[in-house]
Amino acid sequence: MSLRALPKVELHLHLEGAAPPALIRDMARARHVDLSGIFDAAGGYRYRDFTAFLRVYEAATAVLQTPEDYARLTRAVLEAAASEGVVYLETFVSPDFCGGRDLLAWREYLDAISEAAAASERDSGIVMRAIVTCIRHFGPDKARQAALCAAETAGAFLVGFGIAGAETAGRPGDFAYAFDMAREAGLGLTAHAGEWAGPVSVREALDDLRVSRIGHGVRAVEDPALVDRLAEAGTVLEVCPGSNIALGLYPDWRAHPIDRLRAAGVKVTVSTDDPPFFHTTMTGEYDRLADAFGWEAADFADINRIAMAAAFCDEATKDAIAKRLETADV
Ligand code: ADE
Ligand code: ZN
Repeated sequence: MSLRALPKVELHLHLEGAAPPALIRDMARARHVDLSGIFDAAGGYRYRDFTAFLRVYEAATAVLQTPEDYARLTRAVLEAAASEGVVYLETFVSPDFCGGRDLLAWREYLDAISEAAAASERDSGIVMRAIVTCIRHFGPDKARQAALCAAETAGAFLVGFGIAGAETAGRPGDFAYAFDMAREAGLGLTAHAGEWAGPVSVREALDDLRVSRIGHGVRAVEDPALVDRLAEAGTVLEVCPGSNIALGLYPDWRAHPIDRLRAAGVKVTVSTDDPPFFHTTMTGEYDRLADAFGWEAADFADINRIAMAAAFCDEATKDAIAKRLETADV
């Protein structure tokens, strides 16, 4: 069985983090921006550690300057995802990078992204929805402005709100107001936690931000009581194993806790995070998981069912994608 052909649901992908390096290089050349320092000899993104990764990510993102740039990016990202068998994708987008948190500008960016997504859906059938993410190391004030942009544009396409960035900056509770605003607007909620910071960060995201999903969350495995809590509450982890291994959280695939978390009854899902940065793809993730843990088609089907049930889109979209998953001929 080819794992590439398996229909896949991906809940955790940063739109800018999925930018093909060639696209960023092209745009930088056209704008006369020198980005040579962020690429390695093979043309991929170059960084040493998590802090440098965030710096390179933001330098690459800075060449995306117009709604048209984001439309082109969206088309490229969705074409790549569809070729990996992804049928439903939730993508993080940020008003910080799209119009500097100005609501009118943000609307233009979001329209461009949503029109590009509709065109990709017509071409390849892939369905995309967007989650606004605030950036933790930009601080709570900017997070509130990002949440306001999200609340004002919540709807069929913009379905969620989250937080990414350096987990060492501030505490989840500092961002509670932004999350309250997003919750009141009817948005689904997720927070990066338990990636760089330990289990406490996951507890605080649950208690202070009241999210139904955690981005990564893998370091919860260090606290058995928290693992039980996640399993009992049915909290969904957006696990990105290739990202964790590339950033040095775990030495190799066998050491990654995804299989242990799943065995303990935690709802795990699989995503790529920022695929070109981590030299990964959805098929690559599935292949490595199959090699490391003996996961088979039935295991991946189970994970994709869990992901679709946890998706932030409306029920009609969920039902339609769930049917595509059930009837897939692989
Ligand atoms: N932004 C993009 N990728 C990220 C990650 N893995 N963790 C935190 N913030 C991010
Ligand atoms: Zn992420």
